[in-house]
Amino acid sequence: MIKKLAPFMRRYRVPAILCPVAIILEVIIDVSIPLLMANIVDRGIPNQDVVLITRTGVLMIGLALFALLVGVSSSWLASTAAMGFGSEIRKRLFSRIQTFSFARLDKFGVPTLITRLTNDVNNLQNITMMGLRMAFRAPFMLIMALVLAIRINSGLATVFFVAIPILTVGLGLIMSNAYPRFRALQRKLDKLNSTVQENLISIRVVKAFVRSTFEKNRFRDANQDLRDGALKAIRLVILNGPMMQLAIYACIIAVLWFGGGMVQSGGMLTGQLISFISYVNQILRSLMMLSMVFLFSVRAKASGERVIEVLETDSGMTEPDPETLEMMGDEVPDGSVEFRAVDFRYSEEAEQNVLSNISFEIRSGETIGIIGATGSGKTSLVSLIPRLYDATVGEVLVGGRDVRDYSLKTLRDAVAVVLQNNTLFTGTIRENLQWGKEDANDEELMAVCQTAQAAEFIEKMPEGLDTMLGQGGVNLSGGQKQRLCIARALLKYPKIIILDDSTSAVDTATDSRLRQGFAETLQDVTVIIIAQRINSIQHADRILVLDDGRINGIGTHDELMEQNEIYRDVFNSQQEGMKDQ
Ligand SMILES: Nc1ncnc2c1ncn2[C@@H]1O[C@H](COP(=O)(O)OP(=O)(O)O)[C@@H](O)[C@H]1O
Ligand SMILES: [Mg+2]
Repeated sequence: MIKKLAPFMRRYRVPAILCPVAIILEVIIDVSIPLLMANIVDRGIPNQDVVLITRTGVLMIGLALFALLVGVSSSWLASTAAMGFGSEIRKRLFSRIQTFSFARLDKFGVPTLITRLTNDVNNLQNITMMGLRMAFRAPFMLIMALVLAIRINSGLATVFFVAIPILTVGLGLIMSNAYPRFRALQRKLDKLNSTVQENLISIRVVKAFVRSTFEKNRFRDANQDLRDGALKAIRLVILNGPMMQLAIYACIIAVLWFGGGMVQSGGMLTGQLISFISYVNQILRSLMMLSMVFLFSVRAKASGERVIEVLETDSGMTEPDPETLEMMGDEVPDGSVEFRAVDFRYSEEAEQNVLSNISFEIRSGETIGIIGATGSGKTSLVSLIPRLYDATVGEVLVGGRDVRDYSLKTLRDAVAVVLQNNTLFTGTIRENLQWGKEDANDEELMAVCQTAQAAEFIEKMPEGLDTMLGQGGVNLSGGQKQRLCIARALLKYPKIIILDDSTSAVDTATDSRLRQGFAETLQDVTVIIIAQRINSIQHADRILVLDDGRINGIGTHDELMEQNEIYRDVFNSQQEGMKDQ
């Protein structure tokens, strides 16, 4: 894992290398101070050597000040390296996720991606900071202090050879149990985030359906689950502290017991005993630090795996290599569409096909209606054309060529889709429209808005194109949003435009003007309209009837009225509906 993540440190290698250097200096000072102290107690005081005492004292103060400076810089270096490291990982994660196909996004789900991008990266950042500061400090301090303690009195140092192995075993036990708990903790965090996200995105629906209590309970459960998971993991981790404290005090007592005897019998000097106890402290504290680093690294390991999983997931969409594109050209010649024996399902694990054996041809410039019950596969069918998903079996051709043989950019520039649940972004109307074409001027913008029947309401707004839209376009009506989304798609001047139920919230009069506008301005463009209302597609050149993922009929309105039972039923039921009104 370290090998996979280390490259993200490359830009910050200078602070990452300087930090341990500073820390080693700090440790050398820390371990030499007890020696100087022993010097004062054992030589300065008995001999009343004021010069030695003062000189050593001043040296100690100077060293302590220097240690302070070095300590501050090592912290600063560690923070710089760790924060930089985190931001590099986030950058890569984000751009990786941008490449993901719809299928990949379906597989992960948005909430876990958000957790991985934030909380998991934070965990990695924290362990890096801790690791840089402590992973060098602790072992170095441990060894130095141990060596010096042995030099003072090797007999007394046997205390460590009893204490250290016992502590190591205890620590190992805690860690091996903590890892699965930390993994579970991150998953619970995912679940909480997914509950929060789903609720907040659809908070209006939740309120409208008076589902707040239900949602609150759902949140409460996820929240409690997270709390319990965290406590379960922490319960183990907090054992670590008391265990270490116990070891420290036991060692100090043992050292005082045996060392006191030695001082009395003249085998050891008082100052030596004092500095020995300082070393006991330093040794066991570095062990404690090491154990903390290990514990946090267990948590970071769980996070690291989650981050790497995203980094190592391919986009799920293959693009032709540049040489092939060079050879074949990368241009969509016209707006014709052909499906050849296409089967489709959303994931390999899914048992049933969403679409089965779909074959049809659309000539460039034709207007095609698609009708069918909800869940019959209309959205799935059209999403194969701009390669939002890839066909499982068979081929989809645009302009006479397999869609997989264009670069995604070329294909998606030529095929504009207005999705069923279309989204606008925070910003002005102009900025939103310019998603279709970055440098479009106001004239162009108003022209497409005219076709999309959006010009009228935009002009009525006090600030026109500069009107600010809230997140998701909350300050517009459903029909207005739909028309803006259509205008945005038109601005790409596509060869094929797909409207997936995009006029469902538009009144019938506007809907019919919209169709008229399309007929006048988009003569060479292939238009594919999915609609619930027969009215919206009645005048299409041909209409495709989908039933349970299969083509049930294809033809003009009159042909289908004659031959297709489903179509006739839908038409009749809608006529009756009109009469009822
Ligand atoms: N992202 C998805 N992952 C898995 N199944 C999906 C997904 N989107 C739609 N489906 C399923 O595919 C079927 C067809 O859906 P869809 O094409 O949206 O129908 P329609 O647009 O005609 O209402 C439905 O059974 C639906 O549950
Ligand atoms: Mg649909």
